[in-house]
Amino acid sequence: MKILVVGSGGREHALVWKIAQSPKAKKIFCAPGNAGTAQLAENIPIKADDVNSLKKFAQDNGIDLTVVGPEVPLVAGLVDVFEAVGLKAFGPSKAAAMIEGSKVWSKQFMIKNDIPTAKAGIFDDLASASEYIKEIGAPIVVKADGLAAGKGVIVCQTEAEALAAIELIMRKQEFGQAGDRVVIEECLKGEEASIIALTDGKSVVPLASSQDHKRAYDNDEGPNTGGMGAYSPAPIVTDRLMDEIDVNVLRPFVNGMAQAGLTYKGVIYAGIMVTKDGPKVLEFNCRFGDPETQPIMMRMKSDIVPVLEAVVAGKLDHRMVEWDERAAVCVVVAAGGYPGKYDKGMEITGLDKLDQQPGVFVFHAGTKLSASGQVATAGGRVLGVTALGDGIKFAIENAYRAVEFIRFKGQHFRKDIGKKALRRLGR
Ligand code: AMP
Ligand code: GLY
Repeated sequence: MKILVVGSGGREHALVWKIAQSPKAKKIFCAPGNAGTAQLAENIPIKADDVNSLKKFAQDNGIDLTVVGPEVPLVAGLVDVFEAVGLKAFGPSKAAAMIEGSKVWSKQFMIKNDIPTAKAGIFDDLASASEYIKEIGAPIVVKADGLAAGKGVIVCQTEAEALAAIELIMRKQEFGQAGDRVVIEECLKGEEASIIALTDGKSVVPLASSQDHKRAYDNDEGPNTGGMGAYSPAPIVTDRLMDEIDVNVLRPFVNGMAQAGLTYKGVIYAGIMVTKDGPKVLEFNCRFGDPETQPIMMRMKSDIVPVLEAVVAGKLDHRMVEWDERAAVCVVVAAGGYPGKYDKGMEITGLDKLDQQPGVFVFHAGTKLSASGQVATAGGRVLGVTALGDGIKFAIENAYRAVEFIRFKGQHFRKDIGKKALRRLGR
């Protein structure tokens, strides 16, 4: 098969890496890819959101399956455009991707289908939004309706912050039209976990549980980022909790989509807050998580290609997915200044030393090959150093031992990835 992976982050390198192990994959392309995907696939210089150029490439090159990483092309309707010309693409249709594309749609969907979530109000004018904030009080969470590159959610500790947030989103239009409407909701307390599941619109197969680390610095301090590290499994997700999420979140999701006349195929990513009243959904995404996909792919034993094909064909079966019992930890090494302003073009050394280490893999994110053939930084999150281990403790040790080999100017990474899991396990 010829397979095209769309995107250029650590998640896409992890997907390419896993797909490359399949005997079914004869040729892999990645658009636009990074220096890591270039080693396993042919990088194609088409941007991830250039749906029409991607379609033309897939047609011209006889692509058998396209796997989409980021949300933007899914929300823009990549799957519909591909299917209209008989191409197979893994992911939800444009209408179904509204689950991530609109926070208003998503909240209404959850309410309609009794999916546990934070109590919320939906507003399209500033006056009633501010009235609601004053009525509910802080802490409170303000969410711009549309896609905002992960920046549209503002967790506010005071009423003043929340009023400033709606001002920023609705009047100053910080996120453009994405801010024409807002969801304002109660602030949930607890520990977060990511539940990433596959569905073909009928069956739901949860993948191994995982946890992200969203804040930039140790002890969950500092600004929000795209994710500074992840581990799998997440010990907070016990079998019992997983069953509860399956019954109260994943199944109502698939049934709700079907009732809305939509066949949802692809990834259901539920960002869950485990509260004292049980699991509640913070958000749904319509794609794999980044960096959660890195440890999850390291732990997946089964060939992923038949699984992706089964999702597209509506033939998914839970027996298709098996897991390595070991834990996996991904430590993201970021550029100095990230998530604020950062420099690019820093030469990275030490990657060759990790090439042959069993149980360790360095997924590239913001990297590219310089003119001299050196790997250099090209983004904020640069690498995801990922390691397996017998239990989370050893996985953490292995990942940090590997991180020591990596050097580039200004690099920073969290030193406490996985600590929460250790604490929960009482170690
Ligand atoms: P999102 O951009 O939708 O992934 O949300 C980003 C982050 O905001 C989540 O991972 C949570 O940490 C936080 N968040 C979102 N909604 C809530 C909520 N209702 N209560 C507390 N934190 C929230
Ligand atoms: N890890 C967070 C996300 O993919 O949205």
